[in-house]
Amino acid sequence: MSLKDKIDQSKLPQHIAIIMDGNGRWAKRQGEERIFGHENGVKSVRDSVEAAAEIGVKYLTLYAFSTENWNRPQEEVYALMKLLVHTINAETATLNKNDIRLQAIGDLKSLPEDCYNELQEAIENTKNNSRMTLVLALSYSSRWEIINAVKQIAKDIENKKIASADINENLIQSHLCTSNIPDPELMIRTSGEHRISNFLLWQLAYSELYFTDKLWPDFRKEDLFEAILDYQTRERRFGKTSEQLIS
Ligand code: IPE
Ligand code: IPE
Ligand code: MG
Repeated sequence: MSLKDKIDQSKLPQHIAIIMDGNGRWAKRQGEERIFGHENGVKSVRDSVEAAAEIGVKYLTLYAFSTENWNRPQEEVYALMKLLVHTINAETATLNKNDIRLQAIGDLKSLPEDCYNELQEAIENTKNNSRMTLVLALSYSSRWEIINAVKQIAKDIENKKIASADINENLIQSHLCTSNIPDPELMIRTSGEHRISNFLLWQLAYSELYFTDKLWPDFRKEDLFEAILDYQTRERRFGKTSEQLIS
């Protein structure tokens, strides 16, 4: 029985989020420049998108570039942006063929113009697809997102559109970049680092976390299936007791 066949369809996460980490180390291990690792990470993106769509996941969010990643050496940032433009351009037809809609979260206006335009075009060209939504987190950080949400809410209070008493979980959620996306049930991070690195802090409140030592360019379909199988062994209690869940 293949790993894929072992997956219980009735307990499938609707939304999986991945911190794609370890490209630089992967390249360095073979005496190559860091960008070689990023280039090889594209195959893992393809594999993960395909695997998630195949088994029926509805949302896949990939952390591709954080707000803090702007502080990397300029050549690396430039090369990453170039790779991004190229990849989006090359993959749009495949997204359409596979009925996958592209979305993006983050401070998209801070991206270089060609990158921003390419992204908007791909989002527009895939907007009617419905099998799965692929969300790219680009120039994204959760604190940036939360600060923005707070600013918008403060403005609405100032303009008397809402009162401070109206602030609740739903209101905050509706001001996040992910307002139209359910919270991830499963978050995966590759490369052996056990941290969140400013990713979806609000949305991951009750997500199951899965860490693997595999570096991102080595991550394949089977690795995604393995993570899902591990997720399916977890008991999600949401603060309750085990006994309460059974009854
Ligand atoms: C993840 O790989 C990709 C991005 C953050 C853009 P890294 O580039 O962080 O690789 P490591 O962690 O240095 O090995
Ligand atoms: C997190 O990886 C961001 C992305 C994968 C895009 P980093 O490599 O930037 O995270 P840290 O610096 O190790 O926490
Ligand atoms: Mg890293």
